[in-house]
Amino acid sequence: MTLVHHDVLIIGSGAAGLTAALALAETKRVLVLAKGDLRSGSTAWAQGGIAAVLDAGDTFENHIRDTMVAGAGLNRRETVEFVIENAPRAIERLIELGVPFNRAEGSGSGDLHLTREGGHSHRRIVHVADATGWAVQAALLKAAEENPNITLLPGRACIDLITGRHGERFSGDGRVWGAYALDETRGKVEKHVARATVLASGGAGRVYQFSTAPRGATGDGIAMAWRAGARVSNMEMMQFHPTCLYNLEVKNFLITEAVRGEGGHLLHPETGHRFMVDYDAQRMELAPRDVVARAIDDQIKRYGLDYVHLDISHQPDEFVRAHFPTICEKLLGLGIDMTRQPIPVVPAQHYTCGGVLIGLDARTDLPGLWAAGECSESGLHGANRLASNSLLECFVFGEAAAKDILDRWDTLDTPPPIREWDESRVTDSDEEVVIKQNWTEIRRFMWNYVGIVRTTKRLERAAHRIALLRREVNDYYSAFRVTTDLIELRNLIESADLIVRSALARKESRGLHYTLDHPGTLAEARDTVLVP
Ligand code: FAD
Ligand code: SIN
Repeated sequence: MTLVHHDVLIIGSGAAGLTAALALAETKRVLVLAKGDLRSGSTAWAQGGIAAVLDAGDTFENHIRDTMVAGAGLNRRETVEFVIENAPRAIERLIELGVPFNRAEGSGSGDLHLTREGGHSHRRIVHVADATGWAVQAALLKAAEENPNITLLPGRACIDLITGRHGERFSGDGRVWGAYALDETRGKVEKHVARATVLASGGAGRVYQFSTAPRGATGDGIAMAWRAGARVSNMEMMQFHPTCLYNLEVKNFLITEAVRGEGGHLLHPETGHRFMVDYDAQRMELAPRDVVARAIDDQIKRYGLDYVHLDISHQPDEFVRAHFPTICEKLLGLGIDMTRQPIPVVPAQHYTCGGVLIGLDARTDLPGLWAAGECSESGLHGANRLASNSLLECFVFGEAAAKDILDRWDTLDTPPPIREWDESRVTDSDEEVVIKQNWTEIRRFMWNYVGIVRTTKRLERAAHRIALLRREVNDYYSAFRVTTDLIELRNLIESADLIVRSALARKESRGLHYTLDHPGTLAEARDTVLVP
């Protein structure tokens, strides 16, 4: 089915996609597609906040240094400077859109309250209590819904990018002209054609059994861009958040790093020992995430624990309730009063540092395709993302993509005729169980073999399984009508493959990639760039 042509297609309705949409809609007609609900990405789930230099005692240089220390030197300095210097302006725009950031006590409507998180040498995180993402998502969506130049279409799962090979006359070039998407309600595939396409489809966290990311974080955009011919980089740099709630019913509830920023301690659950002293005596609980996550992983493995404790009960009750209202309420519902008791926590996958390679203008390798946010690799995060730098990246690169598209608009051709999606050789599946089984299998071996601590042997085992599953899923994909589950499974395998290949290619331990076979860090920091 062909829909009305828009000038620009945006895949994703999170912070990156909607920021780009709002900037483009001043002069262009923009279509935003989202899988499931418009709030289903990670943006709405963000707790801690957004990092920006806003305090008189802080400097851009401090924030740049903290970002590069966390990133273990793999960051591209010009990207880090670009993002950090644009951060205060991004916060101003969010305030204009109505995001009700917390104000410092006693400052009336004056100064913003700045909290602190691991790896930051200063307080510089603006937040809306412990539900920052929800407020940001709501403000961006409201502005987009009110804009007559923006059409929002939820319930659309993009399957593949449309390139020159999908033209009615085969050109075979890699120019991107939009995407084919499954209408999840009608079960029909639509083609959405545009002069420019922006990928803002989030990360690939759900490739792991335990992840704080939402259900739809299956690496779709990364896989689509890779299949279309774009380079992908640093996919081995998967970030594990140190403190995800340990609960057999609720598997992916994050306990924000701001709990440690506001004084929370990590304790051995039986002895009460504050164990970070044994791993990073200076920075303790506020060491970068990779350091803290590895320390917890080590405690769990060394002592055969199910979890460790995160304890902030020594702070006044009112302070805890005021800073963490959402977490307090959620935990009370599970029988844990965090004002009096420690919280059981474990590390879980949290953020995809790697992704589709982009420049400062958010352009990918493919003409007609831009990318922003968690699906991209801009050079900001390097080998480990500094806390609260990712929403920031979405705002800065969402804006950069829009600016570059507008700047070069006159050079962007109108799309050629594009073929409809061909369903003539497929039937409805009669074995959905295959999809469920493969989903579970991938997520489990990725957790066990490609987790916080890696070895070459385990990575090779994972690679072997990926090859087997890929064959099975490709057969399935070519025989049956697509569903969202099948689209996601195909992309999970692609993402898993990119992660494992990148991990095998890195012969050192750096940031989030830690392997027992190469524990040292090489003198020169190099990106892992995979070329299709
Ligand atoms: P998302 O917000 O994830 O949006 C992705 C969009 O793409 C969605 O609309 C989705 O429906 C759509 N999509 C995906 N696949 C398809 C497809 N095939 N077809 C069509 N649409 C598709 N970062 C911070 O800076 N500060 C924090 O405090 C913070 N807290 C976090 C807490 C949690 C629990 C999590 C999981 C992450 C947190 N992060 C935080 C990270 C941050 O939230 C994300 O990196 C950021 O929101 C990503 O935004 P995005 O716009 O790139 O993608
Ligand atoms: C958190 O609140 O701990 C998450 C912050 C982030 O991922 O940047």
